[in-house]
Amino acid sequence: MKALLFKAANAPIMYEEVADPAPKDGEVVVQLKAASMNHRDNWMTLGMYPKLTPDVIPGSCGAGVVDGREVIINPNIDWGDNPSYPNQKTYDILGMPTNGTFAEAIAVRPDRLVDKPAHLTFEEAAALPLAGLTAYRALFTKGRATKDTKVLINGIGGGVALFAFQFAVAIGAEVFVTSSSDEKIAKAIEMGAKGGANYKEERWAKGFTKQFGRVDVVIDSAGGDGFASLLKVCNPLARIAVYGGTRGMSKLSPPDLFFKEIEIYGSTMGNDEEFLKMVELVNQQKIRPVVDSVFDLSDHLKGYERMRQGSQFGKIVFRIK
Ligand SMILES: NC(=O)c1ccc[n+]([C@@H]2O[C@H](COP(=O)([O-])OP(=O)(O)OC[C@H]3O[C@@H](n4cnc5c(N)ncnc54)[C@H](OP(=O)(O)O)[C@@H]3O)[C@@H](O)[C@H]2O)c1
Repeated sequence: MKALLFKAANAPIMYEEVADPAPKDGEVVVQLKAASMNHRDNWMTLGMYPKLTPDVIPGSCGAGVVDGREVIINPNIDWGDNPSYPNQKTYDILGMPTNGTFAEAIAVRPDRLVDKPAHLTFEEAAALPLAGLTAYRALFTKGRATKDTKVLINGIGGGVALFAFQFAVAIGAEVFVTSSSDEKIAKAIEMGAKGGANYKEERWAKGFTKQFGRVDVVIDSAGGDGFASLLKVCNPLARIAVYGGTRGMSKLSPPDLFFKEIEIYGSTMGNDEEFLKMVELVNQQKIRPVVDSVFDLSDHLKGYERMRQGSQFGKIVFRIK
């Protein structure tokens, strides 16, 4: 079969002929129709990801068909028994060091498969698993968002950020966004945001609070210099859920944190129960993942380049076959 292969850090991902997947005891082979990129796929190419192993097929998200059943794949491998924290001895994410979804087929345990939401195309469904799961845990388990909360999604262009945004809008919360791009803010407003600010503008937080007031929940994957501003836009008792650190180390002003009794949570992926609840929400609310662009698997370098530039709004998807 054809697949993408990780060779080494700072070397291109290759499109090659590889052996068909050999299922181990109880595993089934899913014929993949589409797969989507996550930022981890980019971190790998930069050598900034753990357990990098040559000749592994990357890709955590996929949708396909097994025995006539249309499925999506839960990217969690052996989360373990504690819903709050994955077992560090057993836990892995599909697509490094285990072979992933950037291939024509994949062998997985049947308990990783969930019916593809019927209202989604394969490309939309492939966009959902990892980013949808991460967004669900950050927004609901950590952020405790409800219809009565004001939510700010920082950096709306990101794959996870857009799911957190769509989920928050779907439950009726009042949702705001930031972005480096006024165009992306305008798109979010078309999709139900109440307003937004460009985080590239110095002192954006001041203008934001003047115009929209403060928020109860912040969802962030950037960190970096901008993190301190997120505290400024928080109401007392707000929750900030952090699932990424794209912009690296952050400084913050302790008084901004403690006077308002703000809670900051780290959040990674989500457990299997959260995965099922996330898919249930997508089915109930007929949520359609935002697909930024679709490339043939053989044209994968264009997808990697688009993610590196950060120009996407939503998920970058590979069409398979
Ligand atoms: N912990 C986990 O389980 C988990 C899961 C998934 C992802 N992550 C991490 O979360 C991050 C995002 O992942 P992704 O797959 O959603 O990536 P992505 O689709 O590539 O999104 C990146 C987005 O980050 C935003 N951004 C960049 N610099 C920013 C800044 N200074 N302030 C605010 N936003 C900024 C940009 O938004 P605009 O274009 O709107 O400016 C950009 O579109 C990555 O670091 C990734 O490794 C962690």
